Amino acid sequence: MKSLHFSMSSSFLYVALFLLLWAASAQADETFLDCLSLQSNDSSSISKVVFTQNNSSYSSVLNATVRNFRFTTPSTPKPLVIVTPLHASHIQATIYCSRKHGLQIRTRSGGHDFEGLSYVSEVPFVIVDMVNLRSVDIDVENKVAWVQSGAVLGELYYNIANKSNTLAFPAGLCPTVGIGGYLSGGGYGLLFRKYGLAIDNVIDAQLVDVNGRVLDRKSMGEDLFWAIRGGGGGSFGIVVAWKVQLVSVPSIVTVFTINKTLEQNATKLVHRWQSVAPKLPEEFYSGITLTRVNSSEDGKRTILASFHASFLGGIDELVPLMQERFPELGLVREDCIEMSWIESILSMGNLPNETLNILLDRTYQSPLLSPSFKSKSDYVRRPIPEIGFQGMWSRLFEEEGASASISFIAYGGIMDEIPSTATPFPHRAGNLYKIVYNAGWQEEENIISERYISWIRRLYSYMGSFVSKSPRQAYINYRDLDIGMNNEGNTSFAQASIWGRKYFTNNFDRLVRVKTNVDPQNFFRHEQSIPPFFY
Ligand SMILES: Cc1cc2nc3c(=O)[nH]c(=O)nc-3n(C[C@H](O)[C@H](O)[C@H](O)COP(=O)(O)OP(=O)(O)OC[C@H]3O[C@@H](n4cnc5c(N)ncnc54)[C@H](O)[C@@H]3O)c2cc1C
Ligand SMILES: *[C@@H]1O[C@H](CO)[C@@H](O)[C@H](O)[C@H]1NC(C)=O
Ligand SMILES: *[C@@H]1O[C@H](CO)[C@@H](O)[C@H](O)[C@H]1NC(C)=O
Ligand SMILES: *[C@@H]1O[C@H](CO)[C@@H](O)[C@H](O)[C@H]1NC(C)=O
Ligand SMILES: *[C@@H]1O[C@H](CO)[C@@H](O)[C@H](O)[C@H]1NC(C)=O
Ligand SMILES: *[C@@H]1O[C@H](CO)[C@@H](O)[C@H](O)[C@H]1NC(C)=O
Ligand SMILES: *[C@@H]1O[C@H](CO)[C@@H](O)[C@H](O)[C@H]1NC(C)=O
Ligand SMILES: *[C@@H]1O[C@H](CO)[C@@H](O)[C@H](O)[C@H]1NC(C)=O
Ligand SMILES: *[C@@H]1O[C@H](CO)[C@@H](O)[C@H](O)[C@H]1NC(C)=O
Ligand SMILES: *[C@@H]1O[C@H](CO)[C@@H](O)[C@H](O)[C@H]1NC(C)=O
Ligand SMILES: *[C@@H]1O[C@H](CO)[C@@H](O)[C@H](O)[C@H]1NC(C)=O
Repeated sequence: MKSLHFSMSSSFLYVALFLLLWAASAQADETFLDCLSLQSNDSSSISKVVFTQNNSSYSSVLNATVRNFRFTTPSTPKPLVIVTPLHASHIQATIYCSRKHGLQIRTRSGGHDFEGLSYVSEVPFVIVDMVNLRSVDIDVENKVAWVQSGAVLGELYYNIANKSNTLAFPAGLCPTVGIGGYLSGGGYGLLFRKYGLAIDNVIDAQLVDVNGRVLDRKSMGEDLFWAIRGGGGGSFGIVVAWKVQLVSVPSIVTVFTINKTLEQNATKLVHRWQSVAPKLPEEFYSGITLTRVNSSEDGKRTILASFHASFLGGIDELVPLMQERFPELGLVREDCIEMSWIESILSMGNLPNETLNILLDRTYQSPLLSPSFKSKSDYVRRPIPEIGFQGMWSRLFEEEGASASISFIAYGGIMDEIPSTATPFPHRAGNLYKIVYNAGWQEEENIISERYISWIRRLYSYMGSFVSKSPRQAYINYRDLDIGMNNEGNTSFAQASIWGRKYFTNNFDRLVRVKTNVDPQNFFRHEQSIPPFFY
């Protein structure tokens, strides 16, 4: 835990130094880089982790965790400097010098932000890339772990699996998602109906605030600790590390996938699933992925509904349960595979399953995901009628629907019991399932991306009458800049509260209060960061 250790005395000392340097007016011609080197000391020279645009490694460092190739065009704005801190002191120095020189900071952990906000900004900016801060320390005995923000989910899973096959962490299926962004926005995955979201299992954190102070749960206070668990990344400071609660899983779990096309009654089954899945025991994770395919029978276009589930238990328990609750699906033993929990992460995530090493591959790009994409989310509170699905299918049959997908993820279980004010993430009781719409295309098609983007906007507009209303809710970790803007040209508070209420409903008000207390000058900001009052 050495890398995480900062005694309070040294952090106070640092603040004193910070203020001193702030007050002593620096030479007028001091550059941002001069400032950084002045801020570091011999044993932690920051110059080794600073990449300017002149540096031959600059593009590869920048590209390394760009997940959405929509944001790799020559016209995408690039950072002046990338800093890859090795210590919290490098983060402190970067915050201090960025403020002093009027630069914005974008913090990047796994780079999976749907709108690229961790590495793209319209104003001069610096990226703090957490790639070097990715230690994972598992304490099996106490069932807790400290994990640094720059680690990816796969690294956390790998380290847990290395020590125990009956411990797990309730997080997502994509192993390259960063801990920093994931925990900042909520984080759902295979275990969320039993153990809640990832943020429901965070018990401490280490954060560097706008004044360069290194804070833990105790010193930041419960309001700020509440806000960083789900209020969205990039608003309150830079989270260096998180202490998480590990959870128990059985040594054997079961997964299945059942594929049905329209010709195999997919529409009726999808309709039925809406009433069945949210009420399944909390040991289940249940989802449907809808895509357009060519039928293997006659090659004609159809819709494939892929029903997938994982279950914390064996086949003998699972099969009778499904036959009772959802006989129409026709599940039989042969559809099911028993495995360990960590193998279920590989299986449900469609990852190669020969070894666990894939979990450590930070650059793995699933062939199933389009290089460039635009996504949106919705929450469903009342079952959608069959006719509603017919309209979805006809949109998937349009040209731009070829590589698109629509996924449903069943809610219920413990999600119905955790109060919607427990964390900033408000989408709890009353939601049957979540929808994620995804329009995908090849990088070479970026030039015609508007076609795909307008397709998904039409689909979203069509869905309006079937989903949550007033506000129409959305998941912050499925960031969507369409649902309100708060860019440099427009810091209108009224406008921020449009997307703010969609992501956070009434929790938005508390987030604004916290922001006003901890960063009243709005230093940590981006197009959808929490604004302070009247900013
Ligand atoms: C392929 C794919 C699969 C996904 N699967 C799931 C899933 O199963 N479940 C789920 O809940 N979500 C899922 N997501 C969404 C994912 O949780 C979010 O995109 C998340 O924000 C990504 O975190 P990151 O660190 O990789 O992203 P980044 O792009 O690095 O960061 C996202 C945001 O958080 C901020 N941020 C990053 N690090 C820090 C930090 N240390 N301190 C403060 N702010 C920070 C960034 O500035 C940015 O605003 C998926 C996304 C993708 C692309
Ligand atoms: C230099 O930085 C390192 C890393 O943060 C820290 O451990 C050390 O105490 C610092 N030394 C001085 C003299 O400030
Ligand atoms: C690029 O930056 C890195 C990190 O600061 C440094 O180690 C390296 O020497 C630089 N390379 C060049 C060619 O300037
Ligand atoms: C990049 O290199 C050019 C020429 O070598 C130099 O003029 C410029 O100041 C350098 N920029 C930075 C940010 O180091
Ligand atoms: C970074 O990505 C862009 C777009 O894919 C590509 O053009 C460029 O060559 C990449 N640079 C490096 C160093 O990989
Ligand atoms: C745990 O990790 C160590 C070091 O990487 C490795 O040698 C060992 O085989 C792993 N053990 C298990 C059970 O995965
Ligand atoms: C279901 O369909 C998907 C997509 O075509 C395919 O990859 C998968 O193997 C199929 N699974 C089963 C169990 O048929
Ligand atoms: C579709 O459902 C109907 C009844 O709703 C049933 O008669 C028919 O056999 C089903 N078709 C298939 C392929 O399962
Ligand atoms: C489906 O068929 C069409 C035309 O028959 C073809 O162009 C397309 O590539 C096929 N798609 C897939 C995924 O096989
Ligand atoms: C691993 O993948 C292969 C090929 O996809 C599959 O046949 C096998 O059942 C998988 N094993 C597990 C444990 O999921
Ligand atoms: C800013 O927001 C207001 C209120 O929604 C809107 O009328 C105005 O057009 C926006 N301005 C810019 C520059 O986006």
